[in-house]
Amino acid sequence: MKAAKPSIRMVDLVSQYHRLKEEIDEAMQAVIERGTFINGPEVADFARALASYLDIAHVVPCGNGTDALLISLMRLNLRRGDEVILPAFTYAAAAEAAILLGLTPVAVDVDSYYNIDPAAVEDAVSDRSRAIIAVHLFGQSCDMHPILATAERYNLAVIEDNAQSLGARYLFPDGRSLHTGTMGAVGAFSFFPTKMLGCFGDGGAMATRDPDLAEALRQTTVHGQSSKYHHRIIGLNSRLDTIQAALLAVKLRHIDEAIAARRAVADFYDASLAGIEGIELPRRHPSSTHVFNQYTLRIKNGRRDELRAALRSQGIPSVVYYPLAIDEQEAFGAYLRPASSTQHARSLSREVLSLPIHTEMTTEELKRITEAVVKGLKT
Ligand SMILES: Cc1ncc(COP(=O)(O)O)c(C=O)c1O
Repeated sequence: MKAAKPSIRMVDLVSQYHRLKEEIDEAMQAVIERGTFINGPEVADFARALASYLDIAHVVPCGNGTDALLISLMRLNLRRGDEVILPAFTYAAAAEAAILLGLTPVAVDVDSYYNIDPAAVEDAVSDRSRAIIAVHLFGQSCDMHPILATAERYNLAVIEDNAQSLGARYLFPDGRSLHTGTMGAVGAFSFFPTKMLGCFGDGGAMATRDPDLAEALRQTTVHGQSSKYHHRIIGLNSRLDTIQAALLAVKLRHIDEAIAARRAVADFYDASLAGIEGIELPRRHPSSTHVFNQYTLRIKNGRRDELRAALRSQGIPSVVYYPLAIDEQEAFGAYLRPASSTQHARSLSREVLSLPIHTEMTTEELKRITEAVVKGLKT
């Protein structure tokens, strides 16, 4: 009997843990031994370390990336009915947070890098527009220079949804280069396990250069308290657990190795799949570095689902991020103001396919995957 091939995972968090086990165990054990599970010193230590990595003054930890978006929107002095421009091709969290606050999302089309199209942002501005949520999707920056110019022209606040692109940098035409999540009023981060910096559960943070906004964001995470039992503003309970902060501080020390490992996987895929009929490789924006939280192909000629099934039959997982545009989602339709066209976002949702990518992939696995993709499209 032929031995079964070892299974390939979309993301391998267990092998990554084993590689860093000593450091992680020590950091988490220290929290357990001390018993400071909520707001232990590791939370502020991690926030400082992340702020230093990002080169920004303030990082405010919170419970998850969705809360980071919600809390940011809560503190930008927006009013019911104000419009928030966001991409039609993204995860649901941004639209959801806006709708929960009574705001009106305007989902606009994306560009050939899968990110919000700066021209579509400009076109969507109305006299009710107050904010833009720029989502840095799959590991690279939106084209921030024109987006920030539009925001300045119309006095719009910019929130960056940086759940997927921690570590990427954007290069401005004047030569300045900034981390994603540090270019707008607030950057929202997720530490969901599969993200660039993933914890062992849920976690998130917000980054800002404005000290007053940082303090308001921080108070919002603790029921709006300015001091214990003094509730200055309406807030919620959204904290990063001490034990997660201790783990994240360890992983942050290794983030550049993790990015390099992901880039090597992407380079292998690019080299092996270039020129294959029916595949469009992920395009790298000339003004951004790419950290490849996802490696996402476009599969042409309506063959995406067929290829996915062929890969599955070979024990190779793949994921469709995202099968519907935001303006096609049942929950959101009634709350959106339609933008002129989301045609590109809709085509992407029919064509995208993300291949396994993580920090522990072997050449053997990569060969198996790329051979299966090529074969799957030939038959
Ligand atoms: C682009 C984007 N925004 C927001 C979120 C929400 O983050 P979380 O799952 O930590 O709430 C995610 C994660 O799933 C995401 O991918």
